[in-house]
Amino acid sequence: METKMWTVDKNVDKTNSYPQLVDAAQKLKDGELIAFPTETVYGLGANALLGGSVAGIYEAKGRPSDNPLIVHIGEKEQIHGLVEEIPLVAEKLMEKFWPGPLTLIFQKKEGVFPDVVTAGLSSVAIRMPDHPVALDLLRKAGCPTAAPSANLSGKPSPTTAEHVREDLDGKIAGIVDGGPTGVGLESTVLDVTGSIPQILRPGGITREQLEEVIGEVSVDPGLVKDSDAPKAPGMKYKHYAPKAPLTLVEGTPQFIQKLINEERALGKKVGVYTVEEHAHLYDADIVITGGSREELDSVAEKMYGVLRQFDKEQPDLIFGEVYPEAGIGIAIMNRLKKAAGGRIIKQDKF
Ligand code: TXA
Ligand code: MG
Repeated sequence: METKMWTVDKNVDKTNSYPQLVDAAQKLKDGELIAFPTETVYGLGANALLGGSVAGIYEAKGRPSDNPLIVHIGEKEQIHGLVEEIPLVAEKLMEKFWPGPLTLIFQKKEGVFPDVVTAGLSSVAIRMPDHPVALDLLRKAGCPTAAPSANLSGKPSPTTAEHVREDLDGKIAGIVDGGPTGVGLESTVLDVTGSIPQILRPGGITREQLEEVIGEVSVDPGLVKDSDAPKAPGMKYKHYAPKAPLTLVEGTPQFIQKLINEERALGKKVGVYTVEEHAHLYDADIVITGGSREELDSVAEKMYGVLRQFDKEQPDLIFGEVYPEAGIGIAIMNRLKKAAGGRIIKQDKF
């Protein structure tokens, strides 16, 4: 299959209505798979009302079939036809954070979605992305759109159209190129079906931001303790991993340099994943920086691109720094620990 590309400069047309998207939206509505930018990562869209098309997403990504999809909408009002009820907390959050990087889990309305969208669950995940290109595409297509991240299952999520092309060229009908995404990590997934809303995946909107609007929010214990299974099916899979094994190091750059030296003495090609202010402290085969510690948002924005860059440079192994687990740092460390398959070395007395 030839994968068509549409290029949209979101900054040029202030009307936020892009003529190039008429064709892409028609294809999406008719059941073809179209990748598009959102403010978090690129998504791989299919008309959520067509079971056969949604099944194509799982096939193209190689995604396990027990992992449900997020349904994207272009207008808030669309939600009424999709969910059983909208709890008050959800109404407040939609008012404050939609469009934006917050996915809410509702009881689904029966008889709307083919089972393949929700992996047979009684709930459904809904999100309204904050990106003019995504919103225009969704509005022009008019259908609720199921869209996971547009990467091969297990690989880092795509933050540019080029990343999508690396993974899915020839497997999908088209890619809308709207430039690099902003947040860089996937949306926060919040279950609002219980008495206390619960975070199932940390992301662009932090727990503190949610609690400011609705009070107490809990965190799925499966995200913190290895003994409990995470409630979002997708959180149990190995994810975001670069090809070379990544090991996180809780220690000083000097300690990390010692580890690098030991591996190089064994003849290994060693990569280090660091930040702008530390880059000059390392002597390694490959040093890649992603953002600054002074601004953790920039670390999030660049993270998947850095992990993909290591695949191009092909080190034998990678050492990576850790970040404070507060605010967006929680989502950063959640993804990094998955990318590292849980490998962490701690410096004594650090
Ligand atoms: O930022 C994002 O959310 C991106 C962009 C494209 O919108 N999308 C995304 O989708 O990350 P995906 O499919 O890669 O991740 C969806 C997550 C998975 O962990 C999945 O298990 C969880 O949401 N999920 C979806 N429906 C669910 C449900 N009904 N109950 C619990 N978890 C659910
Ligand atoms: Mg994903």
